[in-house]
Amino acid sequence: MTNQSLPAPPLDFKHVVAQGRVAGLWRLLSGYRLLYVWANVAVGFAAASRTAFYYLILYFVDDVLTQANMGNRLPWIALAFLGLALMEGAFTFLSGRWAAAAAEGITIRLRDYLYDHIQRLSFAYHDKTPTGELIQRVTSDVDALRRFFAEEGIGAGRIAFLFIVNFIAIMTLSPRLAWSSVLLMPLVFAVSIWFFRRIEQLYEKFQEQEAKLSTVLQENLTGIRVVKAFARQQYEQEKFNKENKERFHRGKRLLLWHAVFWPITDIVVGAQMLYGFYVGATMAIAGEITIGTYLAYVGLLIWLIWPLRNLGRLIVQMSMGVVSFSRVAEIIRQEREPLLEGTYQPQAPLPGEIIFDDVSFAYAPEEAVVLHNINFTLPAGQILAITGSTGSGKSTLVNLLLRFYDYSSGRILLDGVELREYPRRTLRQQIGLVQQEPFLFSRTIRENIMYGVERTVTEEEMIAAAQAAAIHDVILTFPDGYNTLVGERGVTLSGGQKQRVTLARTFLKNPRILILDDATSSVDTETEAAIRDALLQLMPGRTTIIIAHRVQTLMQANQVLVLDKGRMAQYGSPTELLAQPGSFQRLYDLQSRIEEEVEAEVAAAIG
Ligand SMILES: Nc1ncnc2c1ncn2[C@@H]1O[C@H](COP(=O)(O)OP(=O)(O)OP(=O)(O)O)[C@@H](O)[C@H]1O
Ligand SMILES: [Mg+2]
Repeated sequence: MTNQSLPAPPLDFKHVVAQGRVAGLWRLLSGYRLLYVWANVAVGFAAASRTAFYYLILYFVDDVLTQANMGNRLPWIALAFLGLALMEGAFTFLSGRWAAAAAEGITIRLRDYLYDHIQRLSFAYHDKTPTGELIQRVTSDVDALRRFFAEEGIGAGRIAFLFIVNFIAIMTLSPRLAWSSVLLMPLVFAVSIWFFRRIEQLYEKFQEQEAKLSTVLQENLTGIRVVKAFARQQYEQEKFNKENKERFHRGKRLLLWHAVFWPITDIVVGAQMLYGFYVGATMAIAGEITIGTYLAYVGLLIWLIWPLRNLGRLIVQMSMGVVSFSRVAEIIRQEREPLLEGTYQPQAPLPGEIIFDDVSFAYAPEEAVVLHNINFTLPAGQILAITGSTGSGKSTLVNLLLRFYDYSSGRILLDGVELREYPRRTLRQQIGLVQQEPFLFSRTIRENIMYGVERTVTEEEMIAAAQAAAIHDVILTFPDGYNTLVGERGVTLSGGQKQRVTLARTFLKNPRILILDDATSSVDTETEAAIRDALLQLMPGRTTIIIAHRVQTLMQANQVLVLDKGRMAQYGSPTELLAQPGSFQRLYDLQSRIEEEVEAEVAAAIG
């Protein structure tokens, strides 16, 4: 029954969130229902042991105490009391264990799914969802669900069993006692449900605020350098304090409602208990029931009523699980970016001819158009250099090629086939993109270079890629060479070094189409020249798009595209553009003049 070691049975999570929350919670249990039923059965046995305890009291008082030869029976009675106590303990233990096993299984499956799912959501979703929000849902909300199954679900079972068993037990003593014991029960229910509604809303607000707080924290830690550089600690502190205070207020309101709830239910439950005792006592005095019956009744009544008090608490706690379920379901409902959807499957390695045919693009329908009517034809194996001022849409243009976003109008053709026909995965396997902001994982340099390479590579190949990216010599200066850890626990690389590691990663991937988005912007001119030479050797037969600003790089391209506010300002071969008046000519003049001046100054200094 305790199958913790077995892998969790698979579950269709889209189905889980397809209907309401109750159905969803029930479906989450799938695969663990039997275990969960056993846990509840054990709870039932524990409740029954407790009830039997009071029956034993009844027997002891009415039948044993009154007998002359009770001395012989006493040890047996004592043993029976002990046995029942042990039984209750054992079953309580088992139920807790089984419920915990089921809850852990559910949690691990849910968390694994969420992790995978979040990675597959589109860029558009990640653009608008703060990371802190996602972290909050995957950790805190999933944990609330675990508690829901491990504690509250089983607690509800316990209350139900205690109530049923004890009610039946009192019924056998006296139906009149039984009915007068549950007179106020509907009131307890009504009060609990009413509070459930309130607390559910308050808890939702509380979790929202907590997510906001973790977003502030996460952003602040990620941007700690900026905060320090601008001496904005005070400002950030105040911003955090503000959100933290709001969280405090919402938490206080939640607690306040809890605090109001308990005394109210306590009063109702206490009144019910007193009334029960009163009815029982009058019946005992009138001789309608025996003293033993009365004593047993008092015990049974306590165990009938006490759970009712907890029922309210439980309902309220369950509301938290239900809210957390909704928050998690919201992520699950998001559509994944289909990686395999697409009808065209290219056979041989792609030749790599790229045509933009009147392509326009906006990040969202209501947002400004970022690319206007882009037209160019890049024959297979040639180099296109893109340049233009910041924010002119260069990165956006190349991101379209990997289908990170889908273009709004026009057509992009890859080897004569519309890009939409290609499965995203195929595109991303064939196109190597060195992103503008290099990102390295906190793993070894080797793992970072090998990342995403889907074939086995030899040590020599990896070193060749690192050499081409002009990073090999740097890596050798680290204590553990390629096995040096990057990031918080290891070496901290400079911006240019990071760029070169990501370059090596892409070289090793050996893609048919290479895209370098400002990939050498943080690298000095000399190193850039070295990389450029290596690139030219690596690139024959490879279609390449380079986003760059240095004239030397632009001059080596077959075509240059100058973007200005999302429009094509200039397009042609570098020599053609040099002959036209325009920004390319200005850039060329400016950069050569600077170089001449520097050379003249150096010459003068040397004398
Ligand atoms: N994820 C996004 N959602 C909405 N708008 C965006 C997004 N990314 C970029 N933009 C907008 O699109 C425009 C073009 O941005 P893009 O990153 O393509 O510029 P760029 O030419 O690469 O600039 P840079 O040289 O600074 O890298 C900018 O106005 C920017 O605000
Ligand atoms: Mg950019």
